[in-house]
Amino acid sequence: MSAQRILCPRLRQRIMDADAAAALIPAGANVGMSGFTGAGYPKAVPQALAARMRAHHDHGEADRISIWTGASTAPELDGALAEVDGIELRLPYQSDPVCRQKINEGRMEYIDIHLSHVAPYAWAGFFGKLDVAVIEVAGITEQGELIPSSSIGNNKTWIDLADRVILEVNHGQSAGLDGMHDVYYGTALPPHRQPIPLTGPQQRIGERYLHCPPEKIIAVVETNAPDRNSRFSEPDEASRRIAGHLLEFFSREVDAGRLPANLLPLQSGVGNIANAVLAGLADGPFENLTAYTEVLQDGMLSLLKSGKLASASATAFSLSPDANRDLAEHIDFYRDRIVLRPQEISNHPEVIRRLGVIAMNGMIEADLYGNVNSTHVMGTRIMNGIGGSGDFARNGYLSVFMTPSTAKEGAISTIVPMVSHVDHTEHDVQIVVTEQGLADLRGLPPRERARRIIEHCAHPDFRPRLLDYFERASASGRGLHTPHLLSEALSWHERYEQTGRM
Ligand code: COA
Repeated sequence: MSAQRILCPRLRQRIMDADAAAALIPAGANVGMSGFTGAGYPKAVPQALAARMRAHHDHGEADRISIWTGASTAPELDGALAEVDGIELRLPYQSDPVCRQKINEGRMEYIDIHLSHVAPYAWAGFFGKLDVAVIEVAGITEQGELIPSSSIGNNKTWIDLADRVILEVNHGQSAGLDGMHDVYYGTALPPHRQPIPLTGPQQRIGERYLHCPPEKIIAVVETNAPDRNSRFSEPDEASRRIAGHLLEFFSREVDAGRLPANLLPLQSGVGNIANAVLAGLADGPFENLTAYTEVLQDGMLSLLKSGKLASASATAFSLSPDANRDLAEHIDFYRDRIVLRPQEISNHPEVIRRLGVIAMNGMIEADLYGNVNSTHVMGTRIMNGIGGSGDFARNGYLSVFMTPSTAKEGAISTIVPMVSHVDHTEHDVQIVVTEQGLADLRGLPPRERARRIIEHCAHPDFRPRLLDYFERASASGRGLHTPHLLSEALSWHERYEQTGRM
């Protein structure tokens, strides 16, 4: 097996099993792992580490590590290590149910960071020292260069910063991924930063492979396992209606001359609403689209295949098993149209601003003035994390946030008087969409934003009460720029906690 994927003789001598490699990671270490949205994460070493931790914990010995990744991973990494209480601190994004529970129970620390900030902050030393990197690759060339896997994320940074590197060579990843990546080695810390020379989504500015001095590589583990991503369900009625409102809006913007006929590079968050928007684009009037995004999900591949999407730039795939098979079968077609980059480039504010990206992301709730909560249920319980939504929302040409107007079978209004946690301020949010309609907030002062959000986005069950709140706040004599009733602003959340309904 190794003869096909590990061509470097020196590194072939480092092949060992996952238990032996895991034994090289000391308790208490800061460990940088590959992985971004369920793609390209190490699949064997974290599970072996979890088994060791369980054994140590059974004997009363402490054995935990801190984990830095690209973004979310999968049950074999986050799930396995969280299950054994093996994670001291986790950054920068997760979506694992066991992790979520441990974080919300206070048994795991979690730092939720803009994804574009992670590599520069790590370089600056803000998180401390990185001891070990555990990185999945698709292969190793004869010269010892590393062929990246189905995500790049922060791998370049982890390899550069870590004292020691463990590689997982996954034979289950398509060998045809070779040539799809563009690893940019030109970033630096201030005052030495230079412009990122990227002026088009499809442009290549970096190198094909990741580099690592061979003496740093202490273990090479072979695996043969697919990325684990869940199947996407068919878009439901609410998602289809959200997509419909957004596509109508794009058409109006093209007619008004504010968008070119092929729009601008698209960024789309993950999830069913995002997939519904992509499905809508497949049937819509726009041709020759481009994407400058973080994650490529099923809908992006379909758009590439249909020819509607000319090219796509991202840092990772997030594909259902069917789409993964399609990728492998048509890898040459996709390689001509897809570039995978480090996340500090896929999410770089400078590039997003220059390209004029259309940012489309999900949210938990928005308030009357357009502040958005993407991360915390009822203000305190983390769902996933901010991910790249802030990178794109702040710097995009258009910044769209989408959600159904209610959650939990109508018990919760996702439009509230005041958000219970703020990820995106009113200054970064231009368009709010629910299945009820689309609120275009551009150029509106706060009170007009409030009226538009209530009229266009709130569910009819909650609309009269939102209007009542707004009108009483406006009449309260407490200041008319952004009216609020402070004693009531979060009462909807409190009522939900107490009665199960807002
Ligand atoms: N209050 C309480 N719970 C809410 C809620 C609200 N206002 N809105 C949604 N939820 C719950 C849903 O009920 C659902 O719970 P369940 O899993 O128990 O059924 C869960 O949150 C997910 O909601 P869903 O409607 O399925 O949305 P989604 O899958 O589109 O996810 C976010 C929405 C906000 C959680 C998701 O988009 C996210 O994590 N965003 C932040 C990161 C990001 O934007 N990344 C993309 C950048 S590239």
